Amino acid sequence: MSILEVKDLKVSFPTVMGKVETVKGVDLSVNPGEVLGIVGESGSGKSVTSLAIMGLINIGSGKIESGEILFEGKNLIDLAEKEMCKVRGDKISMIFQEPMTSLNPVVTIYKQLREVYKIHRPDKKNNCKDELIELLDKLNIPDPKSVLNKYPFELSGGLKQRIMIAMAMICKPSLIIADEPTTALDVTTQAEIIELLKQIKGEGNSGIMLITHDLGIIAEMAQRVVVMYYGKVVEECSVNEFFNNAKHPYSKDLLGAMPENFNERFQSIEGNVPSLYEDVKGCAYYKRCKKRKAECENSKPPMITLKDNHMVRCFKCEKGDEK
Ligand SMILES: Nc1ncnc2c1ncn2[C@@H]1O[C@H](COP(=O)(O)OP(=O)(O)O)[C@@H](O)[C@H]1O
Ligand SMILES: [Mg+2]
Repeated sequence: MSILEVKDLKVSFPTVMGKVETVKGVDLSVNPGEVLGIVGESGSGKSVTSLAIMGLINIGSGKIESGEILFEGKNLIDLAEKEMCKVRGDKISMIFQEPMTSLNPVVTIYKQLREVYKIHRPDKKNNCKDELIELLDKLNIPDPKSVLNKYPFELSGGLKQRIMIAMAMICKPSLIIADEPTTALDVTTQAEIIELLKQIKGEGNSGIMLITHDLGIIAEMAQRVVVMYYGKVVEECSVNEFFNNAKHPYSKDLLGAMPENFNERFQSIEGNVPSLYEDVKGCAYYKRCKKRKAECENSKPPMITLKDNHMVRCFKCEKGDEK
């Protein structure tokens, strides 16, 4: 059974030009022990979906318009903030993209990690130091004792991200959401963080939702892939299917833009994602799609199941119309 099941999630934000829906009906699920990779261009709604799962949409100006976020048999959307507080950081943790800004600059690492105990493990809050040293050591943080006494500015970007990961791991959550955990880091540090995530994946039965634009990381880490475009899932399949048999023209274009796959010159995907203010009648990829048909302009393609673990939102992928 899945740890998490998101069904037809819609999220909107008020803007000066009126309300815009940025997540337009997302369905996805995460199984125990699995890494679900989520890919898609900037602005496709990956972070907003994660924030909705964490119950952090209402804290800003956003609104969950409809849908369900089922976790351990409960619809998280129905939970009061007090109840959601118990889930957040304990059963579901998030590793954010920006380790630089996610830590409080004027509080020592020890005090920040201790906050998690205060909220979720109050019985241990006065004697959590040894456990923290052990955790930091396990996450390959050198000299954990002295790191605990430092302020964020005294640590490198990679170390700060390790601290964020430690914070996410304290309560041994059953779901970890890592939103572009390596994007703000240099290449060597990226590799170290990926190794660390692999270690976490190997250890427990947590499910990991890994958002990244780096398809190399997807190949290394994920079992299943969800491709998002313009607030919707446009393809979902196993990682093997994704790299060998992706069907959606957008997925294919993403794969074509991988450094390994272009010959002489960099292949970018021409055009842009439509503006959220645009009235898109048909497929959101229509204008950029090399395989478009007339009907794609004015009708929205439904999600089609091609086989057991492969679904795609594309008219062109209907049986008998592949070429
Ligand atoms: N607080 C907000 N107010 C208004 N629009 C927002 C807000 N947060 C995100 N958005 C919009 O929602 C869309 C999806 O954003 P996001 O989920 O961050 O994309 P991704 O993570 O896939 O790059 C973007 O167009 C973004 O501008
Ligand atoms: Mg994002």
